[in-house]
Amino acid sequence: MKILVIGGTGNISRGIVAALQNRNHEVVLFNRGQHADSPPSEVRVIHGDRKNREDFEAKVGAEEWDAVIDMISFNAEDAASALRACQGRVGHFVHCSTVMTYGPPFSGINLPETAPLQGTSGYGLGKIEADNLLLEAHARDGFPVTIFKPSYTHGPGMNLHRQVGGDGSWIDRLRKGKPILSAGDGLNYFQFLSSRDAGIAFTDILGKSGGFGEIYNIVHPQARTWDEWHRAAAEALGVEIEIVHVSQETLIAMAPERFSGLRGNFGHTQIFSHEKLAAVLPEFTPQVPITESVAENIAWMDKHNLVPDSDADNLEDQIIETVRNLPRIR
Ligand SMILES: NC(=O)c1ccc[n+]([C@@H]2O[C@H](COP(=O)([O-])OP(=O)(O)OC[C@H]3O[C@@H](n4cnc5c(N)ncnc54)[C@H](OP(=O)(O)O)[C@@H]3O)[C@@H](O)[C@H]2O)c1
Repeated sequence: MKILVIGGTGNISRGIVAALQNRNHEVVLFNRGQHADSPPSEVRVIHGDRKNREDFEAKVGAEEWDAVIDMISFNAEDAASALRACQGRVGHFVHCSTVMTYGPPFSGINLPETAPLQGTSGYGLGKIEADNLLLEAHARDGFPVTIFKPSYTHGPGMNLHRQVGGDGSWIDRLRKGKPILSAGDGLNYFQFLSSRDAGIAFTDILGKSGGFGEIYNIVHPQARTWDEWHRAAAEALGVEIEIVHVSQETLIAMAPERFSGLRGNFGHTQIFSHEKLAAVLPEFTPQVPITESVAENIAWMDKHNLVPDSDADNLEDQIIETVRNLPRIR
């Protein structure tokens, strides 16, 4: 199949391109050519900025595509532009949305695709608008769209996140044997998917007409706690880990500029159902061991100097010190 990936050099996109090539598809990318990582040399790239609507629609609309995977559509305007470019010229259109359409606040755990759309962030709201516009086009004109909603997806192309956010200096802390903060009891759940595994699902859905007009969560079926995630990073680095749990509210009170992001995303347990995707792609099971995907992600961060010296910022040490020395009545 001849497949266009809009994006294609980023975190999830790279997993998709690798999986498409593995299945011997003809792969074409549309991006600005600004990303620090180049695509594989045998891949054709159409250069342009999708925000330049006229140019984007002319370039994408100039060809027929067996499938288009849109990785960088964040609102109704992006989706409407992709629709204008692709309608009548695409066999299957896969739009990358997000589980942040469901929250926070989330209406429960193991959320299926029918869960209420309670996302309140600008990001989540924009994705809801884009999803709705494309689903309406399916209902109205049979536009062959499938919507994928990934959970947290890691791999080369993006910093490895930890629960309390911030930059990649937590990797340096681990390497230097420094303790790291975790919010609350460290038992909030997340689903950590590798971009290599995600790429296989994005690839294997292509051409499945049963998926037209459908939404699929794309998540790792195994929920892991943040403590497990932080330990996986230490294991990948081959170091011991010391985790210091401090409640979310305490962290936000001590350094709101650093930790208020916990209210928005990573401070919430997030578990989404994998069942609908498993029914349409029974052969798809995430295969990459977590320490392997984390090690790949860290290697990419090292290559791009994205692991800053943690000695340059002592906020985390100060917080740990303060919390450990709080006066207590015995
Ligand atoms: N990672 C996660 O945890 C997660 C979870 C849920 C959903 N998602 C979704 O995954 C998608 C991100 O995919 P990704 O990880 O592959 O992306 P990414 O790492 O953000 O990379 C962005 C890609 O798009 C290109 N690009 C960016 N702006 C562009 C523009 N204006 N015009 C043309 N090309 C542009 C970039 O290349 P140039 O810079 O060279 O243009 C690059 O190839 C988003 O839709 C996001 O909402 C991610």
